[in-house]
Amino acid sequence: MMKTIIEPFRAKMVESICFTTRAERKQLLCRAKYNLFQLRAQDVIIDLLTDSGMAAMSSQQWSALMRGDESYAGCSSFYRLGEIVTNTFGFPEVIPVHQGRAGEKILFAALVKPGDVVPSNTHFDTTRANLEACGAEAIDLPTPEAKDSNSSYPFKGNIDLGKLERLITTRGAKAMPFAMLTITNNSAGGQPASLANIQGMSKLLRKHEIPFYIDAARFAENAWLIKQRAPDCSGLSVSEIVKKIFIGANGCLVSAKKDCLANIGGFIAIRDRSLARRLKDALVLTEGFPTYGGLSGRDLEVIAVGIEESINEDYLHYRQASSMYVAEKLMVHGIPFVAPPGLHALYIDAAKFLPHIPALQFPGQALACELYVEAGIRSCEVGSVMFGKYNRETGKETTAQKELVRLALPRRVYSQSHYDYVAEALVNVYRRREKIVGMKIVSQPQQLRHFNAFFEPIADS
Ligand code: F0G
Repeated sequence: MMKTIIEPFRAKMVESICFTTRAERKQLLCRAKYNLFQLRAQDVIIDLLTDSGMAAMSSQQWSALMRGDESYAGCSSFYRLGEIVTNTFGFPEVIPVHQGRAGEKILFAALVKPGDVVPSNTHFDTTRANLEACGAEAIDLPTPEAKDSNSSYPFKGNIDLGKLERLITTRGAKAMPFAMLTITNNSAGGQPASLANIQGMSKLLRKHEIPFYIDAARFAENAWLIKQRAPDCSGLSVSEIVKKIFIGANGCLVSAKKDCLANIGGFIAIRDRSLARRLKDALVLTEGFPTYGGLSGRDLEVIAVGIEESINEDYLHYRQASSMYVAEKLMVHGIPFVAPPGLHALYIDAAKFLPHIPALQFPGQALACELYVEAGIRSCEVGSVMFGKYNRETGKETTAQKELVRLALPRRVYSQSHYDYVAEALVNVYRRREKIVGMKIVSQPQQLRHFNAFFEPIADS
């Protein structure tokens, strides 16, 4: 048997990369006010900002696109997507939306009232923001192992079931319109939840008659990691594991821009037909008629094919091999990252990488900027810029629990030589880490500041 794992596809179309010099990048970064979201994509050599909506479509998806039925009502593309979602996830009701957060808004508006409490392993930013917009309290209950970036515990995406039970007892089941689980847990390092944890959560919630919804943007990667990391699941296919994940849930919210290999789209899939009717009525107001939900017929086709491709085990194996390939190179050089590596991203521990830069000087932002200057690589700070808070009245900053830089791995986009390039750049930056200076925020919006804040490097004293 061959040991080398290759990409299970070949290129039929390519997109050129524009190269820039270090001097040009310094200027471009200064012009972007040291915020990588403000760069033009053409000025980026390797774009690891996100794995969302950046997948390369397959020839099957491109041809399905031509089959898209653009009828306003009852298009055949909707029924094709519905059938694939029902067969894969087991939910009879499928409601398309233009992307994940649109589904969040519609489901939450139907179920949540002010004063409610909604727990999760860790809410993704948009889930939290949409719950808070409904007046609810979004509570994160990650498993304690998730706190330690060195721990190689295989299921750091688990929810802490003991804490969940205590929360139900103290706040009461009535205050909990539902509970959620994010798989894989993006905000906690792309870590998976185990099947045992998912089943335990479902049982606990059923006992208290609390509905259970799964934020399933990366469901296939979570299922693959269950197969790899849980010895009692190694004999199951990914498709069987996916069915077991969702069987005890009331529904799921899916951003199709991740595992479903689409550039846009999402869906809500649920069991309850009367709730589905209410959601469809709400959908008409903002997303469109329920058989297209803000998407074109061709988008629905692309998602349907993408779901089938997402659970292909050769593809998932290659995906894991890519992230392990980069992780092993980092390990050789002692570059600190969140272990064990997930599939959709590697998270560099910027606090350990740059211990001389305090959290209030945003080590993650400093590292992300340096990586761009070094090699034109765009990554994303996931630390005190994203999760810290500035109090305008007191002028005080609250920092985040962790200072990370996410290197997201877009699906089927970059090759092994691209990843060699990324690792080389990181090693170069690591070698001169003592020279890197912290950053300060010079202007920021009230909310979601990581997108629009302006920064400046703190002058070397
Ligand atoms: N849930 C999770 C777990 C996500 O990671 C995202 C998006 C969403 C929901 C929202 O979906 O973008 O389609 O509206 N995550 C992207 C990221 C933005 O870069 O991780 P959306």
